[in-house]
Amino acid sequence: MSFDRTDCERCRGDFPALRRKHDGRPLVYLDGPAGSQMPSAVIEAISGYYRSHNANHHGAFPTSRESDEAVLDARRKLAAFVGAGNWREISLGQNMTTVAYSLSRAIGAAFSEGDEIVITALDHEANRGPWLGLRDHGIVVREAAMLPNGLIDMEDFERQLTPRTKLVAVTLASNALGTVPDSTEIRRLTRAAGAWLLVDAVHYAPHFPIDVQELDVDFLLCSAYKFYGPHVGVLWSRPGLLQQLPTEHLRVQSDEAPYRIETGTLNFAAIVGAGAAVDYIASWGEGRDLRARIVDATGAIAEYEHGVALRYWDEVRGIPGVTGWGPDFDQERRAPTVSITVDGRTATEVASQLGERGVQVWDGHFYAVRAVETLGLEERGGLVRTGVLMYNTADEVGRLLEALEAIAGSSRRA
Ligand SMILES: Cc1ncc(COP(=O)(O)O)c(C=O)c1O
Repeated sequence: MSFDRTDCERCRGDFPALRRKHDGRPLVYLDGPAGSQMPSAVIEAISGYYRSHNANHHGAFPTSRESDEAVLDARRKLAAFVGAGNWREISLGQNMTTVAYSLSRAIGAAFSEGDEIVITALDHEANRGPWLGLRDHGIVVREAAMLPNGLIDMEDFERQLTPRTKLVAVTLASNALGTVPDSTEIRRLTRAAGAWLLVDAVHYAPHFPIDVQELDVDFLLCSAYKFYGPHVGVLWSRPGLLQQLPTEHLRVQSDEAPYRIETGTLNFAAIVGAGAAVDYIASWGEGRDLRARIVDATGAIAEYEHGVALRYWDEVRGIPGVTGWGPDFDQERRAPTVSITVDGRTATEVASQLGERGVQVWDGHFYAVRAVETLGLEERGGLVRTGVLMYNTADEVGRLLEALEAIAGSSRRA
Protein backbone atom coordinates (compact mmCIF):
# COMPACT_ATOMS: atom_id res chain seq x y z
CA MET A 1 0.00 0.00 0.00
CA SER A 2 0.96 3.63 0.00
CA PHE A 3 0.52 6.30 2.63
CA ASP A 4 -0.13 9.76 1.25
CA ARG A 5 -1.37 13.21 2.29
CA THR A 6 -4.96 12.00 2.45
CA ASP A 7 -3.99 9.08 4.69
CA CYS A 8 -2.06 11.50 6.88
CA GLU A 9 -5.13 13.75 7.18
CA ARG A 10 -7.22 10.66 8.02
CA CYS A 11 -4.78 9.42 10.64
CA ARG A 12 -4.70 12.84 12.31
CA GLY A 13 -8.32 12.30 13.30
CA ASP A 14 -7.17 9.31 15.39
CA PHE A 15 -4.89 11.43 17.60
CA PRO A 16 -6.85 13.52 20.14
CA ALA A 17 -3.76 15.58 21.03
CA LEU A 18 -3.67 17.00 17.52
CA ARG A 19 -6.92 18.86 18.23
CA ARG A 20 -5.12 21.10 20.71
CA LYS A 21 -4.87 24.74 19.78
CA HIS A 22 -2.44 27.47 20.73
CA ASP A 23 -3.47 31.09 20.16
CA GLY A 24 -6.33 29.86 18.00
CA ARG A 25 -4.16 27.73 15.70
CA PRO A 26 -3.53 23.97 15.90
CA LEU A 27 -0.38 23.06 17.82
CA VAL A 28 2.30 21.60 15.57
CA TYR A 29 3.88 18.49 17.07
CA LEU A 30 7.29 18.13 15.46
CA ASP A 31 8.76 16.85 18.73
CA GLY A 32 8.19 13.16 17.90
CA PRO A 33 11.76 11.87 18.41
CA ALA A 34 11.27 12.55 22.13
CA GLY A 35 7.93 10.76 22.15
CA SER A 36 4.98 10.44 19.79
CA GLN A 37 1.34 11.26 20.48
CA MET A 38 -1.09 8.38 21.06
CA PRO A 39 -4.09 7.43 18.93
CA SER A 40 -7.44 6.90 20.67
CA ALA A 41 -7.16 3.13 20.12
CA VAL A 42 -4.08 3.04 22.35
CA ILE A 43 -5.60 5.34 24.98
CA GLU A 44 -8.73 3.15 24.98
CA ALA A 45 -6.71 -0.06 25.33
CA ILE A 46 -4.93 1.36 28.38
CA SER A 47 -8.08 2.65 30.06
CA GLY A 48 -9.95 -0.54 29.08
CA TYR A 49 -7.32 -2.55 30.93
CA TYR A 50 -7.86 -0.47 34.07
CA ARG A 51 -11.63 -0.55 33.71
CA SER A 52 -11.99 -4.31 33.26
CA HIS A 53 -8.85 -6.39 33.85
CA ASN A 54 -6.63 -4.62 36.36
CA ALA A 55 -4.91 -7.27 38.53
CA ASN A 56 -1.49 -8.55 39.46
CA HIS A 57 -0.16 -11.55 37.54
CA HIS A 58 -0.52 -15.29 38.06
CA GLY A 59 -3.62 -15.14 40.24
CA ALA A 60 -6.18 -17.96 40.14
CA PHE A 61 -9.09 -15.63 39.45
CA PRO A 62 -10.65 -14.10 36.33
CA THR A 63 -9.13 -10.60 36.14
CA SER A 64 -5.64 -11.89 36.88
CA ARG A 65 -5.97 -14.55 34.18
CA GLU A 66 -7.28 -11.94 31.75
CA SER A 67 -4.43 -9.61 32.64
CA ASP A 68 -1.85 -12.37 32.03
CA GLU A 69 -3.50 -13.16 28.70
CA ALA A 70 -3.52 -9.46 27.70
CA VAL A 71 0.20 -9.11 28.48
CA LEU A 72 0.97 -12.29 26.53
CA ASP A 73 -1.04 -10.96 23.61
CA ALA A 74 0.97 -7.72 23.71
CA ARG A 75 4.23 -9.71 23.74
CA ARG A 76 3.04 -11.57 20.63
CA LYS A 77 2.29 -8.27 18.89
CA LEU A 78 5.66 -6.79 19.87
CA ALA A 79 7.33 -9.98 18.61
CA ALA A 80 5.57 -9.46 15.26
CA PHE A 81 6.64 -5.80 15.32
CA VAL A 82 10.35 -6.70 15.42
CA GLY A 83 10.01 -9.79 13.23
CA ALA A 84 10.74 -12.26 16.08
CA GLY A 85 9.79 -15.89 15.71
CA ASN A 86 8.38 -16.20 19.22
CA TRP A 87 7.00 -14.01 22.01
CA ARG A 88 9.51 -15.71 24.35
CA GLU A 89 12.18 -13.52 22.73
CA ILE A 90 10.49 -10.33 24.04
CA SER A 91 11.40 -9.01 27.50
CA LEU A 92 9.73 -5.89 28.84
CA GLY A 93 10.63 -3.13 31.26
CA GLN A 94 10.06 0.43 32.31
CA ASN A 95 11.87 2.06 29.38
CA MET A 96 14.80 1.31 27.10
CA THR A 97 17.39 2.79 29.48
CA THR A 98 16.28 0.68 32.42
CA VAL A 99 16.30 -2.50 30.34
CA ALA A 100 19.72 -1.62 28.90
CA TYR A 101 21.09 -1.20 32.43
CA SER A 102 19.69 -4.58 33.52
CA LEU A 103 21.17 -6.23 30.46
CA SER A 104 24.52 -4.50 30.94
CA ARG A 105 24.78 -5.80 34.50
CA ALA A 106 24.08 -9.34 33.29
CA ILE A 107 26.54 -9.05 30.41
CA GLY A 108 29.16 -7.49 32.69
CA ALA A 109 28.82 -10.42 35.07
CA ALA A 110 29.33 -12.87 32.18
CA PHE A 111 32.42 -11.08 30.79
CA SER A 112 35.95 -11.25 32.21
CA GLU A 113 38.35 -8.49 33.15
CA GLY A 114 40.02 -7.12 30.01
CA ASP A 115 37.12 -8.08 27.72
CA GLU A 116 36.15 -5.23 25.45
CA ILE A 117 32.97 -3.46 24.37
CA VAL A 118 32.75 -1.05 21.43
CA ILE A 119 30.30 1.86 21.57
CA THR A 120 30.00 4.87 19.27
CA ALA A 121 30.15 8.65 19.57
CA LEU A 122 26.87 8.87 17.64
CA ASP A 123 24.82 6.98 20.19
CA HIS A 124 22.29 8.22 22.75
CA GLU A 125 23.68 7.94 26.30
CA ALA A 126 21.26 5.08 26.96
CA ASN A 127 23.42 2.93 24.71
CA ARG A 128 26.67 4.24 26.13
CA GLY A 129 26.22 4.84 29.87
CA PRO A 130 25.27 1.25 30.78
CA TRP A 131 28.37 -0.06 28.95
CA LEU A 132 30.71 2.65 30.19
CA GLY A 133 29.62 1.72 33.72
CA LEU A 134 31.17 -1.73 33.22
CA ARG A 135 34.65 -0.14 33.26
CA ASP A 136 34.33 -0.35 37.06
CA HIS A 137 34.41 -4.15 36.62
CA GLY A 138 37.57 -4.16 34.52
CA ILE A 139 35.79 -4.20 31.14
CA VAL A 140 37.51 -2.04 28.50
CA VAL A 141 35.11 0.24 26.61
CA ARG A 142 36.27 1.66 23.28
CA GLU A 143 34.50 4.36 21.34
CA ALA A 144 34.19 4.51 17.55
CA ALA A 145 34.34 8.10 16.31
CA MET A 146 31.68 10.07 14.46
CA LEU A 147 32.47 12.04 11.30
CA PRO A 148 31.45 15.73 11.00
CA ASN A 149 28.56 14.71 8.71
CA GLY A 150 27.04 12.53 11.44
CA LEU A 151 28.08 9.17 9.99
CA ILE A 152 30.03 6.66 12.06
CA ASP A 153 33.70 6.68 11.07
CA MET A 154 33.82 3.09 9.83
CA GLU A 155 37.61 3.02 9.58
CA ASP A 156 37.80 3.99 13.23
CA PHE A 157 35.05 1.50 14.07
CA GLU A 158 37.14 -1.26 12.52
CA ARG A 159 40.21 -0.07 14.44
CA GLN A 160 38.34 -0.36 17.76
CA LEU A 161 37.60 -4.06 17.19
CA THR A 162 40.21 -6.39 18.69
CA PRO A 163 40.42 -10.10 19.46
CA ARG A 164 39.09 -9.18 22.93
CA THR A 165 35.93 -7.46 21.66
CA LYS A 166 32.95 -9.28 23.12
CA LEU A 167 30.15 -6.83 22.39
CA VAL A 168 29.38 -4.02 19.96
CA ALA A 169 26.58 -1.66 21.03
CA VAL A 170 25.45 0.66 18.26
CA THR A 171 22.41 2.60 17.21
CA LEU A 172 20.25 1.76 14.19
CA ALA A 173 19.25 5.43 13.85
CA SER A 174 20.49 8.59 15.53
CA ASN A 175 17.83 10.52 17.44
CA ALA A 176 19.90 13.70 17.05
CA LEU A 177 21.05 13.65 13.44
CA GLY A 178 18.87 11.11 11.64
CA THR A 179 21.88 8.99 10.67
CA VAL A 180 21.10 5.37 9.82
CA PRO A 181 24.43 3.54 10.16
CA ASP A 182 25.40 0.76 7.76
CA SER A 183 24.23 -2.12 9.95
CA THR A 184 25.24 -4.74 7.38
CA GLU A 185 28.86 -3.64 7.46
CA ILE A 186 28.78 -3.24 11.24
CA ARG A 187 27.47 -6.78 11.60
CA ARG A 188 30.08 -8.16 9.20
CA LEU A 189 32.91 -6.57 11.16
CA THR A 190 31.38 -7.50 14.53
CA ARG A 191 30.96 -11.13 13.51
CA ALA A 192 34.50 -11.23 12.12
CA ALA A 193 35.66 -10.15 15.60
CA GLY A 194 33.52 -12.90 17.14
CA ALA A 195 31.51 -10.42 19.23
CA TRP A 196 27.83 -10.01 20.07
CA LEU A 197 25.95 -7.19 18.38
CA LEU A 198 23.41 -5.12 20.29
CA VAL A 199 21.40 -2.47 18.47
CA ASP A 200 19.49 0.50 19.82
CA ALA A 201 16.37 0.66 17.65
CA VAL A 202 14.60 3.34 19.70
CA HIS A 203 14.77 5.98 16.98
CA TYR A 204 14.61 3.44 14.14
CA ALA A 205 11.40 1.71 15.29
CA PRO A 206 8.94 4.54 14.52
CA HIS A 207 10.35 5.01 11.02
CA PHE A 208 11.41 1.70 9.48
CA PRO A 209 10.21 -1.91 9.48
CA ILE A 210 12.35 -3.94 11.91
CA ASP A 211 13.33 -7.48 11.04
CA VAL A 212 15.56 -9.10 13.63
CA GLN A 213 16.11 -12.10 11.35
CA GLU A 214 17.44 -9.93 8.56
CA LEU A 215 19.37 -7.64 10.91
CA ASP A 216 20.89 -10.80 12.39
CA VAL A 217 21.83 -9.12 15.65
CA ASP A 218 21.95 -10.58 19.17
CA PHE A 219 19.99 -7.97 21.11
CA LEU A 220 17.65 -5.20 19.98
CA LEU A 221 16.14 -2.54 22.21
CA CYS A 222 13.27 -0.19 21.49
CA SER A 223 10.75 1.90 23.35
CA ALA A 224 6.98 1.98 22.68
CA TYR A 225 6.43 5.66 23.46
CA LYS A 226 8.34 6.52 20.30
CA PHE A 227 5.94 4.53 18.12
CA TYR A 228 2.54 5.78 19.32
CA GLY A 229 2.45 3.72 22.52
CA PRO A 230 3.10 4.44 26.21
CA HIS A 231 6.35 4.12 28.15
CA VAL A 232 7.51 0.51 27.86
CA GLY A 233 11.04 -0.69 27.13
CA VAL A 234 11.29 -3.67 24.79
CA LEU A 235 14.22 -6.07 24.54
CA TRP A 236 14.47 -8.70 21.84
CA SER A 237 17.15 -11.32 22.54
CA ARG A 238 18.39 -14.00 20.20
CA PRO A 239 16.77 -17.28 21.30
CA GLY A 240 18.86 -18.98 23.99
CA LEU A 241 21.07 -15.97 24.70
CA LEU A 242 19.28 -14.46 27.69
CA GLN A 243 19.27 -17.91 29.28
CA GLN A 244 23.10 -17.89 29.27
CA LEU A 245 23.32 -14.59 31.13
CA PRO A 246 23.38 -14.23 34.91
CA THR A 247 20.49 -11.76 35.00
CA GLU A 248 19.52 -10.24 38.32
CA HIS A 249 16.15 -11.38 39.58
CA LEU A 250 14.43 -12.49 42.74
CA ARG A 251 14.48 -16.19 43.59
CA VAL A 252 10.70 -16.21 43.51
CA GLN A 253 10.78 -14.97 39.94
CA SER A 254 10.86 -17.15 36.82
CA ASP A 255 14.35 -18.13 35.71
CA GLU A 256 13.13 -18.55 32.15
CA ALA A 257 13.46 -16.16 29.23
CA PRO A 258 11.94 -13.70 28.60
CA TYR A 259 11.02 -13.16 32.27
CA ARG A 260 14.44 -13.65 33.83
CA ILE A 261 15.50 -10.06 33.14
CA GLU A 262 12.19 -8.52 34.23
CA THR A 263 12.08 -7.41 37.85
CA GLY A 264 9.09 -6.54 39.99
CA THR A 265 5.58 -5.97 38.72
CA LEU A 266 5.49 -4.65 35.19
CA ASN A 267 3.23 -1.84 33.99
CA PHE A 268 0.60 -4.16 32.52
CA ALA A 269 -1.69 -1.37 31.27
CA ALA A 270 1.19 0.26 29.40
CA ILE A 271 2.23 -3.09 27.93
CA VAL A 272 -1.31 -3.60 26.67
CA GLY A 273 -1.08 -0.09 25.20
CA ALA A 274 2.18 -1.00 23.46
CA GLY A 275 0.44 -3.97 21.84
CA ALA A 276 -2.39 -1.67 20.75
CA ALA A 277 0.19 0.70 19.21
CA VAL A 278 1.45 -2.18 17.06
CA ASP A 279 -2.14 -2.94 16.02
CA TYR A 280 -2.64 0.73 15.19
CA ILE A 281 0.41 0.84 12.92
CA ALA A 282 -0.64 -2.45 11.29
CA SER A 283 -4.12 -1.04 10.63
CA TRP A 284 -2.51 1.12 7.92
CA GLY A 285 -1.12 -1.89 6.07
CA GLU A 286 -2.41 -4.80 4.08
CA GLY A 287 -1.45 -8.45 4.35
CA ARG A 288 -2.60 -11.82 5.49
CA ASP A 289 -1.27 -11.59 9.03
CA LEU A 290 -0.19 -9.01 11.59
CA ARG A 291 3.48 -9.15 10.61
CA ALA A 292 2.70 -8.61 6.91
CA ARG A 293 0.46 -5.63 7.75
CA ILE A 294 3.14 -4.11 10.01
CA VAL A 295 5.81 -4.39 7.31
CA ASP A 296 3.46 -3.02 4.65
CA ALA A 297 2.37 -0.08 6.81
CA THR A 298 5.79 0.88 8.18
CA GLY A 299 7.33 0.79 4.68
CA ALA A 300 4.62 3.08 3.30
CA ILE A 301 4.67 5.45 6.28
CA ALA A 302 8.49 5.62 6.08
CA GLU A 303 8.26 6.81 2.49
CA TYR A 304 5.70 9.46 3.39
CA GLU A 305 7.75 10.74 6.36
CA HIS A 306 10.89 10.81 4.23
CA GLY A 307 9.16 13.04 1.65
CA VAL A 308 8.02 15.56 4.27
CA ALA A 309 11.41 15.62 6.02
CA LEU A 310 13.27 15.92 2.71
CA ARG A 311 11.27 19.01 1.80
CA TYR A 312 12.19 20.54 5.16
CA TRP A 313 15.88 19.58 4.79
CA ASP A 314 16.04 21.12 1.32
CA GLU A 315 14.24 24.34 2.19
CA VAL A 316 15.52 25.05 5.67
CA ARG A 317 19.12 25.10 4.50
CA GLY A 318 18.16 27.82 2.02
CA ILE A 319 17.25 30.22 4.84
CA PRO A 320 20.19 32.62 5.38
CA GLY A 321 21.84 31.96 8.75
CA VAL A 322 20.53 28.39 9.08
CA THR A 323 22.87 25.39 9.04
CA GLY A 324 21.63 21.82 8.65
CA TRP A 325 23.50 19.08 10.51
CA GLY A 326 23.69 15.35 9.94
CA PRO A 327 23.98 13.26 6.79
CA ASP A 328 22.48 14.36 3.51
CA PHE A 329 19.28 12.73 2.32
CA ASP A 330 21.15 10.96 -0.49
CA GLN A 331 22.12 8.23 2.00
CA GLU A 332 20.59 4.83 1.30
CA ARG A 333 18.57 5.29 4.46
CA ARG A 334 18.02 8.30 6.64
CA ALA A 335 15.57 8.92 9.45
CA PRO A 336 13.13 11.81 8.92
CA THR A 337 14.79 13.79 11.71
CA VAL A 338 16.47 17.07 10.86
CA SER A 339 18.61 19.18 13.16
CA ILE A 340 19.67 22.75 12.52
CA THR A 341 21.33 25.73 14.14
CA VAL A 342 20.53 29.40 13.55
CA ASP A 343 23.36 31.95 13.56
CA GLY A 344 23.20 34.37 16.48
CA ARG A 345 20.60 32.34 18.39
CA THR A 346 21.01 29.50 20.86
CA ALA A 347 18.98 26.37 20.18
CA THR A 348 16.81 27.12 23.22
CA GLU A 349 16.08 30.62 21.97
CA VAL A 350 14.97 29.26 18.60
CA ALA A 351 12.86 26.47 20.13
CA SER A 352 11.17 28.84 22.55
CA GLN A 353 10.38 31.37 19.81
CA LEU A 354 8.94 28.53 17.73
CA GLY A 355 7.00 27.36 20.78
CA GLU A 356 5.46 30.81 21.16
CA ARG A 357 4.18 30.39 17.60
CA GLY A 358 2.71 26.97 18.45
CA VAL A 359 5.42 24.95 16.71
CA GLN A 360 6.87 22.38 19.09
CA VAL A 361 10.42 21.20 18.48
CA TRP A 362 13.19 20.10 20.81
CA ASP A 363 16.47 21.80 21.46
CA GLY A 364 19.70 20.65 23.07
CA HIS A 365 21.59 17.36 22.81
CA PHE A 366 18.65 14.99 23.37
CA TYR A 367 21.03 12.76 25.40
CA ALA A 368 23.11 12.20 22.25
CA VAL A 369 25.57 14.42 24.05
CA ARG A 370 28.74 12.90 22.61
CA ALA A 371 27.51 13.52 19.05
CA VAL A 372 26.67 17.15 19.84
CA GLU A 373 30.08 17.59 21.54
CA THR A 374 31.78 16.09 18.48
CA LEU A 375 30.10 18.72 16.32
CA GLY A 376 31.37 21.41 18.71
CA LEU A 377 27.84 22.62 19.40
CA GLU A 378 27.66 22.08 23.17
CA GLU A 379 28.37 25.72 23.95
CA ARG A 380 25.74 27.02 21.55
CA GLY A 381 23.13 24.95 23.36
CA GLY A 382 23.11 22.13 20.84
CA LEU A 383 20.66 21.64 18.01
CA VAL A 384 17.08 22.50 17.07
CA ARG A 385 15.53 19.17 16.14
CA THR A 386 12.48 18.50 13.99
CA GLY A 387 11.08 14.99 13.77
CA VAL A 388 8.47 13.90 11.25
CA LEU A 389 5.95 11.19 12.11
CA MET A 390 2.97 9.74 10.25
CA TYR A 391 0.70 12.53 11.50
CA ASN A 392 2.88 15.45 10.40
CA THR A 393 1.91 17.35 7.27
CA ALA A 394 3.74 19.39 4.65
CA ASP A 395 1.67 22.38 5.82
CA GLU A 396 3.07 22.01 9.34
CA VAL A 397 6.57 22.03 7.92
CA GLY A 398 5.53 25.13 5.96
CA ARG A 399 4.55 26.83 9.23
CA LEU A 400 7.87 25.84 10.76
CA LEU A 401 9.82 27.21 7.79
CA GLU A 402 7.90 30.47 7.85
CA ALA A 403 8.58 30.89 11.58
CA LEU A 404 12.26 30.04 11.14
CA GLU A 405 12.61 32.60 8.37
CA ALA A 406 11.27 35.25 10.72
CA ILE A 407 13.53 34.14 13.60
CA ALA A 408 16.65 33.90 11.43
CA GLY A 409 15.79 37.22 9.74
CA SER A 410 15.39 39.07 13.03
CA SER A 411 18.65 37.54 14.22
CA ARG A 412 20.47 38.88 11.13
CA ARG A 413 19.00 42.33 11.62
CA ALA A 414 19.92 42.42 15.31
C1 LIG B 1 18.05 6.65 20.20
C2 LIG B 1 17.53 6.53 21.60
N1 LIG B 1 18.00 5.53 22.37
C3 LIG B 1 17.58 5.36 23.63
C4 LIG B 1 16.67 6.21 24.20
C5 LIG B 1 16.22 5.98 25.60
O1 LIG B 1 14.94 5.47 25.60
P1 LIG B 1 14.05 5.48 26.94
O2 LIG B 1 13.55 6.86 27.11
O3 LIG B 1 12.97 4.49 26.65
O4 LIG B 1 14.91 5.03 28.05
C6 LIG B 1 16.16 7.27 23.44
C7 LIG B 1 15.20 8.23 24.03
O5 LIG B 1 15.10 9.36 23.60
C8 LIG B 1 16.60 7.43 22.10
O6 LIG B 1 16.14 8.41 21.33
